[in-house]
Amino acid sequence: MRDEPRVLPRNFRKLTAEQRLQTLRDTYDLSAEELQMLGYRGNLDLSEIMTESAVGFLALPMGIAAGIPVDELLYDVPLAVEEPSVIAAATYGARILRGAGGIHTWASEPVMTTQVYLSDCPEGSVEKLRAAESQIVAEISPVLAAMQRRGGGYRGMDVELLQDLAVVRVQIDIDVRDAMGANLLNSTAEQAVPLLESLSGGRKVFAILSNAAPKRLAGAEFHAPLSRLRRGKLVGRPLAERIVLASRIAECDPMRAVTHNKGIMNGISSLASATGNDTRGLEAAVHAYAARTGSYASLTSYRIEAGPHGEDVLHGRLEAPLVFGVVGGAVGIHPGARAALKVLRKPGAMQLARIAAAVGLAQNFAALAALVSEGIQAGHMRLHATRLAYIAGARGDLIEKVAARLSLGGVYNIETAASMLRDISGEQPTGTADPSESAQKTEV
Ligand code: MEV
Repeated sequence: MRDEPRVLPRNFRKLTAEQRLQTLRDTYDLSAEELQMLGYRGNLDLSEIMTESAVGFLALPMGIAAGIPVDELLYDVPLAVEEPSVIAAATYGARILRGAGGIHTWASEPVMTTQVYLSDCPEGSVEKLRAAESQIVAEISPVLAAMQRRGGGYRGMDVELLQDLAVVRVQIDIDVRDAMGANLLNSTAEQAVPLLESLSGGRKVFAILSNAAPKRLAGAEFHAPLSRLRRGKLVGRPLAERIVLASRIAECDPMRAVTHNKGIMNGISSLASATGNDTRGLEAAVHAYAARTGSYASLTSYRIEAGPHGEDVLHGRLEAPLVFGVVGGAVGIHPGARAALKVLRKPGAMQLARIAAAVGLAQNFAALAALVSEGIQAGHMRLHATRLAYIAGARGDLIEKVAARLSLGGVYNIETAASMLRDISGEQPTGTADPSESAQKTEV
């Protein structure tokens, strides 16, 4: 008979944080060092109130994309992300656009939608529900009172019969101001359920927010004179024309649009992570928006247009539902997120969405400029080289020295990094090279 692998006990969730760590160590044979990394002891209390069955924090590297132009201001934008090229691309794109008229942004009011679905509704229930709007608004007003005092609250209602399912859908729009809004939206929907059931004669299927957020849009655009555009050997109009063609491909071909939008979200999701926002909700909304015509397409578009001063410009534009909150949820609790918001000069939710739009556009512009010129891999491999140097055991300034030699040689694997490290330091590497990784040969 096969031995069943050991798993954590059923009461794991109910153990104290310390007991959970010990149980995890014993079950999975974790070393003290691994436990230390996982445990991140100082913040166990915090992790306990942020997630169930907490055992610590997984720290993501956080960097700053410095000097992102957003309307008349420059922002130093904290991005938490594991991919080394993300900040490099955002700052490169921002630098070019800063010198070419900057990035202009906008955001709609932060209106989100919550939903109640009702089954078994007798005929005429849609009309009854529509006619009872003021009664429904009065019913949900206690839940919305505090938000209303902050300038938000009820913004409208929509009732539809989903014919194929014989289900009635009630949607309530709420301006959530500086919050992401999930708790408020869910509470509002649940508060409305008994009244909606009695008005319609139907039965609740479920009541919850929609993450789609098609009314909570933010956007960014730039008009860069062609003479300000340069990437390697491609300069001016030829570069702009290749970028336009690349963006047209992403508008027409969903296979490419996915990668194109992934690049945009490199910046936007990293900003969401850095500020403690819900990356899954944000991404669900963005990708649904990208598919709103029925075919998945790019979130940005680029065109060459006549400029105001006689010179043609490259016009780049991004629009997407960008659901960012600056109060509530993890934002108010996580000290790293709070520090990140301070670096951003404590923006409101709409301003944060505008910053995110600018970052996404700069990121996308940089990716397209690199792709249509020398490609992205040269830059990526330069960054990858520093990781290989680290894995091979280099520390301190040896990391850069080994990485520089790897880039020169053009062979990227741990054995080569280790041998270069030996050459440079004149001694055996002392790092934590993982033999299994080494065996995989990361050469490309
Ligand atoms: C890599 O993380 C992002 C890119 O693939 C985006 C793109 O292809 O547009 C470079």
